[in-house]
Amino acid sequence: MSPLNFRRPTEADHPHVVDLVDEWWGGRKMRALLPRLWFRHFSGTSWIVEDDGGRLVGFLVGFISPGHPKVAYAHMIATSPNHRRRGIGRALYEQFFSDALAAGAREVHAITWPGNRVSVDFHRHLGFRLDDGPGTTPIYSVPAHPHYDGEGEDRVLLIRVLDNPHA
Ligand SMILES: CC(C)(COP(=O)(O)OP(=O)(O)OC[C@H]1O[C@@H](n2cnc3c(N)ncnc32)[C@H](O)[C@@H]1OP(=O)(O)O)[C@@H](O)C(=O)NCCC(=O)NCCS
Repeated sequence: MSPLNFRRPTEADHPHVVDLVDEWWGGRKMRALLPRLWFRHFSGTSWIVEDDGGRLVGFLVGFISPGHPKVAYAHMIATSPNHRRRGIGRALYEQFFSDALAAGAREVHAITWPGNRVSVDFHRHLGFRLDDGPGTTPIYSVPAHPHYDGEGEDRVLLIRVLDNPHA
């Protein structure tokens, strides 16, 4: 695999990334979940990865929770369909884990659809646990919060406790 370049996104990246997300999610309508504000206001805790030709191969957008400063929240992560299963998604999360630890966070949270088996398995491989506490019920065989984001919008809550390098 050619060398990869990890860098912070800028607003100039937004048109290109937002044009790819529906395809990268297999046709699901995702672009409304990625307004430009992510590239304007969350650049310091987000990542772009490109190949040596400057072509986008992945991105992660996230933030440190203002309301819960010990929690970092990963809003979206994706890698190019041509570059999957090569450790790029893991590498993006490792960059984000470093950002989170540097900011004093101790957990990373994310949510996904119970039917997104790839996302559930990916997060499990990265050490996330699936919240199976009060309010959850099995949906597609995974613990999920029914109607979490409104009627019919079920979600799995994913939690990764960060290893404290100073512990
Ligand atoms: C989910 C996604 C980001 C994974 O990216 P990736 O670059 O292929 O992931 P990696 O190669 O770094 O894999 C990391 C781990 O997840 C596991 N994994 C990745 N894809 C998997 C799959 N399809 N099925 C099962 N496990 C999978 C890998 O085995 C690996 O574990 P290991 O290191 O212990 O072997 C990518 O498939 C994607 O962009 N999907 C569409 C967007 C999406 O659903 N994003 C997540 C929800 S926001």
